[in-house]
Amino acid sequence: MEKIKMSCPCHFGLESVLKFEIGRIGGEDISAKDGRVSFTGSFRTLTKANLCLSTAERVLIVLSEFKAENPKELIEAADRIPFEDYIGRNDRFPVKGHSLNSSLHSVPACQSIIKKAAVNRLSKKYGITSFNETGALFQIQFSILNDNVTVYLDSSGEGLHKRGYRKNSNDAPIKETLAAGIIDLAHIRKDSIFYDPFCGSGTFLIEAAYKAMNIAPGLKRTFAAEQWGISDPKLWEEERASALAAIKRDNDFFAYGYDIDPEAAALSIENCRKAGIGNRAEVRQADIHDFRYEYENAVTVCNPPYGERLLELKEAENLYNVMGKKFGSTQNHPCFIITPHEQFEQFFGKTADKKRKLYNGMIKCQLYMYYN
Ligand SMILES: C[S@@+](CC[C@H](N)C(=O)[O-])C[C@H]1O[C@@H](n2cnc3c(N)ncnc32)[C@H](O)[C@@H]1O
Repeated sequence: MEKIKMSCPCHFGLESVLKFEIGRIGGEDISAKDGRVSFTGSFRTLTKANLCLSTAERVLIVLSEFKAENPKELIEAADRIPFEDYIGRNDRFPVKGHSLNSSLHSVPACQSIIKKAAVNRLSKKYGITSFNETGALFQIQFSILNDNVTVYLDSSGEGLHKRGYRKNSNDAPIKETLAAGIIDLAHIRKDSIFYDPFCGSGTFLIEAAYKAMNIAPGLKRTFAAEQWGISDPKLWEEERASALAAIKRDNDFFAYGYDIDPEAAALSIENCRKAGIGNRAEVRQADIHDFRYEYENAVTVCNPPYGERLLELKEAENLYNVMGKKFGSTQNHPCFIITPHEQFEQFFGKTADKKRKLYNGMIKCQLYMYYN
C-alpha cells in the first residue's frame, strides 16, 4: 500500500504537542489546524501512531477530501472513493459524521449517500449484493465543514484515551490524552520528582510515569485496524516489541499523589498498579493543608476542584489560596495547574509565567504555568 494520509483529532490547544509526537514516530508532511493534526506515512506509521501517540484522540485514515454543496456533488465524489482497497466482503462498515456551516446539513441524508457509495464499490469488487457485515469494523466517518467534505476510516476503534489502565474512575477524572499533553508542557523528564496533591484517580501520576519511562500508552490495548484483512499481524507484533524495548527503567522518576478522599487515594493506587507503574508512585490520603515538598526541583501538576456552585466556588478559591502558599518558591518547584476559574491567579497569589487555553471536555480552562 502506498503512502496513507492520516488525521488525528486532539484537544484544542494541544496541536503543537501532537505535531511533535507525530514527527517523532516518523510522520511526514505534518500540518496542524483547529484540534487536528494531519500527516502521511506507511501502514507501519499508522501502527506506531495508534500505539505511541499520547495526545491523539484517534488515528483516522483520510479516504477523500472534496467540496460538495449539493447531494449530486456528494454522490459523484463518494462514488469515486476506493472503499474496496480496505474493506473486505464480510466486514462491517457503518457510517457516521457531522456537518457544520454547510449546504449539506442533513447528516442522515449524507450518511445514506456515503453508505450507498460504499455498497456499490464493494458489490462491484466482490460480485455480491447483500452484505452480512459480521467481520472486522471499518467505521466510516465524514466531516462537512463550510461545504468541505472529508471521509475517513477509523483505525483506532475505541478512543485512544482508553489506555486500558483506568477501569474505575472517580467523579471528575481528567481525560488521559489531555493529561498527557499537560505532562508534556510541564517538561517531565526521566529523573523528575512529580507531585499531584489532588490526584483523584491518578491520571497525572500515570501519564507522567509513562512520559518519564517512555512507555507507549497503547501497549495495554488493541485497535480496530488490527482486525483488518489488509493489516499484517507481524507489523503489530514488531511495533509492540519495539515499544516494549524502548521503555526506560533505569531512571529515578518518582510520583507522589495525595487526595483528601480516601476512596480516591485507593483508586489511584489501584490504577497505578494496573498501569504497571505501581513501584514508581506513592499515594496516600492527605489534605492540601498538610502538603509540603520533601524534594527540591519537584514538578507539580494538578487539576484542583473548581466548584460549580457558589458555596463550592468559595471553597475552591480558599484551596487556591492554600496552594499558592504551599507551592512556595516556583523556581525550585515549577507547577502547572489547570482550572476554568478565571481569577485563579488572584487567589493563588501569583501571576503565571505563561498561560495556555485548553478545553477539558466542553469546559474552557487555562493551564497556569509557573516556572521562573
Ligand atoms: C478534579 S478532581 C482531580 C481528578 C484527577 N486529576 C483525576 O484524573 O482523576 C479534584 C480532586 O481533589 C480532591 N480534593 C478536594 N479537596 C481537597 C483537599 N482539600 N486536599 C486534597 N485533595 C482534595 C477531590 O477529592 C478530587 O479527587
